Amino acid sequence: MILVTGGAGFIGSNFVLDWVGLTGEPLVNLDKLTYAGNLENLASLKGDPRHVFIRGDINDAGLVNGILTGYRPWAIVHFAAESHVDRSIHAPDDFIKTNINGTFNLLSQALAYWQGLDADEKAAFRFLHISTDEVYGSLGSDDHPFTEVSPYAPNSPYSASKASSDHLVRAFYHTYGLPALITNCSNNYGPYQFPEKLIPLVILNAIEGTSLPIYGDGQNVRDWLYVSDHCEALRTVLAKGAPGQTYNIGGNNERTNLEIVHAVCGLLDELCPSQGVGRYSSLITHVKDRPGHDRRYAIDSSKIQRQLGWRPVEGLESGLRKTLMWYLDHMDWVKNIKTRAYQDWIEINYGAMEE
Ligand code: NAD
Ligand code: TYD
Repeated sequence: MILVTGGAGFIGSNFVLDWVGLTGEPLVNLDKLTYAGNLENLASLKGDPRHVFIRGDINDAGLVNGILTGYRPWAIVHFAAESHVDRSIHAPDDFIKTNINGTFNLLSQALAYWQGLDADEKAAFRFLHISTDEVYGSLGSDDHPFTEVSPYAPNSPYSASKASSDHLVRAFYHTYGLPALITNCSNNYGPYQFPEKLIPLVILNAIEGTSLPIYGDGQNVRDWLYVSDHCEALRTVLAKGAPGQTYNIGGNNERTNLEIVHAVCGLLDELCPSQGVGRYSSLITHVKDRPGHDRRYAIDSSKIQRQLGWRPVEGLESGLRKTLMWYLDHMDWVKNIKTRAYQDWIEINYGAMEE
């Protein structure tokens, strides 16, 4: 039995589905179901005794303690977070509460639980903290990609809150010996991603024939990783990673935002030709830049490749194609996501942005 936090979100739900499908091992999924959490992602596990879902907050000490002592997991895989940079710019409070205080509470409860285990259980226990490459700040175009020893230099409230949580995890390992590991991953894409992030936002806006907003000049670079490759990396780190270590996870797919959006438009032209707008790329609109917008992220994942034998297998073109087909096949899921709260967010973030 393992405990997953945030397992109703994008990466968490992909991880839960893959975990149950591939290992068959039961898990407890603790998720607050914020706007980003969606039980529809886990509909295929309905009634499956291997998936125990508990709605709750990682800040709730009594609840977390009860789950740990009641289910006795051998690992905690910690995804729960506020995850969207633009939201952290508009309203950082929840990022502090969940990403920093929530991780601190989870660590404190995990430590108390771990200290009560017998020697073998103690040695086998793992606290896996899922983090981001954004903690390392922004790269210039000629800089070497981030390694595990790159200095922390977070630039957004989101990345600052994740950096803070990484430091707490590190401190719990060094101070108390809690067998914790950290993974810092690049931008994920794939099924079940909430359409506030670039790729699903562009897919859904294009299908609706509305503008495709590119912040600034569109030359910012991200390293894109297909979500199932990330989940495989996390299972590998759980099985083979050394406590106290950090592993960088990336897709070897550096692209500018404009390249990504053109790639999505090209695939849509092929898979779902537009009746009204001609080529989808005609919908691209440059809007006001994100404040403090990091120019480039890139990951050097040679450590996890060399030491643990993981490498990404999905190509960007095939991964984008799969993602697009998933959204086209799941328009009911999309319809249910597009609630009033989603429309409000689009108005807050893009309302006054057109240049
Ligand atoms: P997401 O926003 O899709 O999902 C977050 C999940 O956490 C949701 O289900 C939400 O309900 C839950 N949650 C939020 N606050 C909670 C709380 N206080 N208590 C319990 N549950 C809570 O995020 P994601 O994109 O799946 O990211 C998962 C993790 O991976 C995050 O820690 C994020 O920082 C990290 N990460 C994401 C990416 C990416 O590209 N999406 C890249 C690198 C790292
Ligand atoms: P995003 O998916 O929000 O991930 P992150 O900020 O964590 O990298 O954004 C990816 C890139 O796309 C980032 O450089 C910002 C840019 N972007 C746009 O140009 N337009 C948009 O509407 C969004 C949401 C993002």
